[in-house]
Amino acid sequence: MYEMKDEYLTGIESIDNEHRVLFEIAEETYQLRNNQFIPDKYDNLRVLLHKLKDYTIMHFDNEEKYMESINYKKMFTQKIEHQEFREKLESYDIDGIDEDTNYVIDDILDYLTKWLVEHIVENDKRIAE
Ligand SMILES: [Fe+2]
Ligand SMILES: [Fe+2]
Repeated sequence: MYEMKDEYLTGIESIDNEHRVLFEIAEETYQLRNNQFIPDKYDNLRVLLHKLKDYTIMHFDNEEKYMESINYKKMFTQKIEHQEFREKLESYDIDGIDEDTNYVIDDILDYLTKWLVEHIVENDKRIAE
């Protein structure tokens, strides 16, 4: 469902590797959420969602450090987008997720991956230009 594609590559290895990990965690979460044979999976799902959130925030920090290191001209626009998304991630009550709020998982995965793809294609790919 969620995977890194060639068209998302920025050409900056460290950034591409982190984007790949983000898609992997999203996919792992999606697979677990849809697995009907695992009882009590919500503890693990909450762990994965925290991992996804923490990794995304760490990635933004790393990417911003990289942009600073090369004096990237459009860094400010990127930082604003990252900040808006950080706030969106902070707004989810991950610890409150259980089977009754399954839809929150879908919302996070759907929103995160769509945002990520769009942001990578529209913004991150330009960093190396
Ligand atoms: Fe970015
Ligand atoms: Fe990125």
